[in-house]
Amino acid sequence: MNSSKPRLVIGMTGASGAPYTIDLLETLKDLPIETHLVISDGAKRVIAAEMNQSSKDLERLASVVYDDRDVGASIASGSFITLGMVIVPCSSSTLAKIAHGIGDTLTTRAAHVHLKERRNLVLVPREAPYSRPMLEAMLKAFDAGARILPASPGFYHAPQEIADLLGFVTARILDQFGIANTRARRWKDKPALEDAD
Ligand SMILES: Cc1cc2nc3c(=O)[nH]c(=O)nc-3n(C[C@H](O)[C@H](O)[C@H](O)COP(=O)(O)O)c2cc1C
Repeated sequence: MNSSKPRLVIGMTGASGAPYTIDLLETLKDLPIETHLVISDGAKRVIAAEMNQSSKDLERLASVVYDDRDVGASIASGSFITLGMVIVPCSSSTLAKIAHGIGDTLTTRAAHVHLKERRNLVLVPREAPYSRPMLEAMLKAFDAGARILPASPGFYHAPQEIADLLGFVTARILDQFGIANTRARRWKDKPALEDAD
C-alpha cells in the first residue's frame, strides 16, 4: 500500500476482548489512518470462542493484514514509519514476551521495534485478577517505554450499552496517538441534545 496516510499498527492477541479490536478498527475506518493488522493464533482461537464472526471478517476492516509468523514483514523494521502500535487485547503471554524483549512472532517483534525506535506502544491487557508475573511484566514494559492501558472502561460517562463501554476504551487508545476522535463523551462534555432527558 502506498498512501500518505499515517499508519497505525494494531496487534490482536489471545486475551478476551475481540470486541475492543473490532470497535477500534471500525472507528479508524472513518478516520484518515492506515491500519496495519496482525492477529496471533491465540487471538484467532479467542475470536472463535467469543464472536459470531471469523478472523477473516475482522481482517476486512484493516488496510493491510499480516501473518503473525512473518517476522520479516514491513512492520518488523524500524525503517517502516508508523504513528505507533497498539496491542488490543494484549494477552499475559504477549505482555511477558514484550517485557523481556522476546520477538518470536511478528506481533512481539513489531512491539520491540516500536520500543527501540522510541515510538508509541500501547498495551491493553485483560486478565482478572492480575498475577504477580503479569504485574511485574507491566512495570517492565512501562519502564521500557510502553503505555499500559487496561481494558477497564469507566462509568462516569453514563454508558447505556456495550458500544459505549467499547467506545470509552477506543477513545482512550486513540488519544494516546493524538488521533482526534469523538468515539466517547469526555468528562464535562455536554450530552448531545437527543440524549438529554
Ligand atoms: C477463550 C480464551 C480466553 C482467553 N482469555 C485470556 C485473557 O483474558 N487474558 C489472557 O492473558 N489470556 C487469555 N487466554 C489465554 C491466551 O490465549 C494464551 O495464553 C495464548 O497462548 C496467548 O498467545 P498470544 O499472546 O500469542 O495470542 C485465553 C484463551 C482462550 C482460549
